[in-house]
Amino acid sequence: MQSDSGAVSVSQALRDAAGAIGRSRSIDHWRPVMSRYDAEELMAAVLGKPLDGDSRRQELSGDQRRRYSSMVARRVAGEPVAQIVGAIWFRGLSLHVRRGVFGPRSSSELLAAEAIRALRRRRRGRVAVDVATGSGPVALAVAHEVPDAEVWGVDISAEAVKLGRQNARRLHIDNVHFKVSDMLDALPSRMRDGVDVLTIHPPYVARREVRTLPREIREFEPIHSLTDGSDDGLGLVRRLAGDAHEWLRPGGVLLVEIGTYLSRSTQTALRKAGLSDVRWTKDSLGVTRVVSGRRSR
Ligand SMILES: C[S@@+](CC[C@H](N)C(=O)[O-])C[C@H]1O[C@@H](n2cnc3c(N)ncnc32)[C@H](O)[C@@H]1O
Repeated sequence: MQSDSGAVSVSQALRDAAGAIGRSRSIDHWRPVMSRYDAEELMAAVLGKPLDGDSRRQELSGDQRRRYSSMVARRVAGEPVAQIVGAIWFRGLSLHVRRGVFGPRSSSELLAAEAIRALRRRRRGRVAVDVATGSGPVALAVAHEVPDAEVWGVDISAEAVKLGRQNARRLHIDNVHFKVSDMLDALPSRMRDGVDVLTIHPPYVARREVRTLPREIREFEPIHSLTDGSDDGLGLVRRLAGDAHEWLRPGGVLLVEIGTYLSRSTQTALRKAGLSDVRWTKDSLGVTRVVSGRRSR
């Protein structure tokens, strides 16, 4: 509530913002609590510190109030929180985010975790390639957590690769290389038969489904990061599965992050491409699945 002096407490501003965000039709409210999280993240950016009991009781200055209102209005219009604040946390790394490059989702932490696990099981001289890397969350997390590995992140978007490199430089992660590439086409050919882990979080929305996506995705993420133009959304998955034999070491794995509804067809695609030991795992919310397949030894 606003006092006579016009002052507004942080907790009141949070309540109002969560309500406004919760009513927005530009946002996919797949979990109602998300509007509260969004309001809190934007507030933490305005205050310049994480929220705690004390900061919730404090009053916002006029400048803070104006900044917060403007951020909340952007969110209500559909702009993702990460783009508004310009950064996102991913497995303990603060990654810069910008419009024009797909914004990493915390749901991709599962793909990174599976890649790290698979890579640690391999012999020294470990090599990982993250295809369709975007701003590089998976490649950066793998490189950071397996420091003796050689990690590559490739993407068709020059803007994405530039942001991946900037994130790597700022975080002092120097065992990762980013390269513009249509899938694996620009990788050095010395890497054939030499990759232990291939990861991909592909643009998997079927061509005709793009128009049904919520505004926060359809209008704020580049179209090539959402769909590969195929009828079922699995065009790039089939392409990578088909190429995997040429690039994986015997026993190496391909890991694909995919929506739950595509889990079965992805498993079929991997089997058809001749990969063995095809299986899947899901995150705690059951939203994302990682489907894996192995090159036989
Ligand atoms: C869903 S986004 C995932 C980005 C990143 N892995 C992440 O999780 O934040 C898909 C990415 O695929 C890239 N992409 C689309 N077509 C590609 C292609 N033919 N070769 C390589 N990357 C491609 C897009 O530029 C986009 O960055």
